[in-house]
Amino acid sequence: MALLKISDLNAGYGKFHVLNGVSLEVEKGEIAVLLGPNGAGKSTLLNAIAGLATIFSGSIVVDGRDVTGKSPGEIQKAGVGYVMQSPNNFGTPNIFPELTVRENLIAAAAGVRPEEAEKALREVLELFPKLKELENRKGKFLSGGERQMLAISMGLMKRPKLLMLDEPTAGLAPKVASDVFSAIKSIRDMGITILLVEQNARKALEIGDRAFVMVTGRLRYSGPAKELDEEKLGRLIMGQ
Ligand SMILES: Nc1ncnc2c1ncn2[C@@H]1O[C@H](COP(=O)(O)OP(=O)(O)O)[C@@H](O)[C@H]1O
Ligand SMILES: [Mg+2]
Repeated sequence: MALLKISDLNAGYGKFHVLNGVSLEVEKGEIAVLLGPNGAGKSTLLNAIAGLATIFSGSIVVDGRDVTGKSPGEIQKAGVGYVMQSPNNFGTPNIFPELTVRENLIAAAAGVRPEEAEKALREVLELFPKLKELENRKGKFLSGGERQMLAISMGLMKRPKLLMLDEPTAGLAPKVASDVFSAIKSIRDMGITILLVEQNARKALEIGDRAFVMVTGRLRYSGPAKELDEEKLGRLIMGQ
């Protein structure tokens, strides 16, 4: 059974339509990459799944549970973690700049039973050992890479079934971006399904199992990541 199943989704903001008839499925345990030019609607799709956009019609089912039209809190409880693009369209950072790394992680575990939160904390510190050294540093003093690692860790604190990552390597040096891509693979290996929006198509297709290409609110490609390359992607984006 698909962990995420979206059927004929039309969504946007208020009365503004962005997504047109989007249908897709992501299987449990895979990395799905969502590619496409700026303004295509990639973040809007993630926002719609997270309960942050307006849904006009269609449905979103997570692990067999229909979450269409549910609140962000309910969708989080259904097992969806979301690491937003930073800066995003809502003008909010994806971490709390005034809180320390440790406080950010604790805040992200709100509502999680203490023993589960401790387990999640151990897991994220194993995934990103560097965060342990930075435990007492405020979010605003972290480098771009450290900040993304913290944001991803925060997304993991509620132990989601599906983790959505919106451009987690944007603006990072190649070495740091590589570390983030490796971490994403490790997260998949922990059994968490990933929906990844990326500008770095080559790297994303390398780690992806499945790929989607979105252009002006519609999917132009759904299929195995290995059957897509940068040249084919370019043609899809140009409408050829
Ligand atoms: N919070 C928002 N309110 C209104 N319109 C938005 C909002 N976020 C994005 N949009 C609009 O939705 C369209 C798709 O944007 P977006 O989903 O951010 O694209 P992408 O992530 O592919 O670059 C754009 O026209 C953008 O201006
Ligand atoms: Mg975006």
